[in-house]
Amino acid sequence: MNQNELKKLVGIEAAKYVTDGMIVGLGTGSTAAFMVKEVGRRVQEEGLQITGVTTSNETSALAESLGIPLKSIDEVDYVDLTIDGADEISADFQGIKGGGAALLFEKIVATYSKACIWIVDESKLVDKLGAFPLPVEVVPYGSEQLFRLFEKKGYQPTRRLTAEGEILLTDGGHHIIDLHLDVIENPVKLAEELTALVGVVEHGLFIHMVSKVIVAASDGVKTLEAR
Ligand code: 5RP
Repeated sequence: MNQNELKKLVGIEAAKYVTDGMIVGLGTGSTAAFMVKEVGRRVQEEGLQITGVTTSNETSALAESLGIPLKSIDEVDYVDLTIDGADEISADFQGIKGGGAALLFEKIVATYSKACIWIVDESKLVDKLGAFPLPVEVVPYGSEQLFRLFEKKGYQPTRRLTAEGEILLTDGGHHIIDLHLDVIENPVKLAEELTALVGVVEHGLFIHMVSKVIVAASDGVKTLEAR
């Protein structure tokens, strides 16, 4: 099976956790899109009754096209279950997200969720985080100062650009600086350090936010539970 087929498999598997009456956080990215499509199919064909809370404009457009009823995160008390993709997951269930530039809304929705499931193909499982560049969402004003600070710290920053080579603007109107760290020895400490910087809106380290990871591998789908 190729990577796309694995993503589809895990997206369909995760949609089984969605039941009638739930408020469901709908993640962003190519894996989450398969889950959203399956939830949409169940809404249309099985009469599944749910309300979706999306994590990006891209996911809103997809969910709307599939007829999934939506509310914003501010219109609900809480989200029952959020299903999202991830860029890297370590053995202790810490993760990097934001490869699709939606980390801020993804983290907000995850924060107000009773449970979160990540869905990935096996290539995303790592011993230690850091090979995937860590996205940091920053306010445009003063972002060059932050960029230089990251350079001085040896974090090898790059600015996230669009396919056309323009500076990418997130759904929240911010910029993204990707940090090329190779290995993150202490994700909790780095998360605290980044959060404390003026101008940083959010970073892509998701610490203790997920209790279940569904992984698609060539030999089938595995569900991993946090210890
Ligand atoms: C978007 C994300 C995505 O969930 C993450 O990048 C995984 O994407 P994909 O499923 O396309 O590999 O965090 O901000």
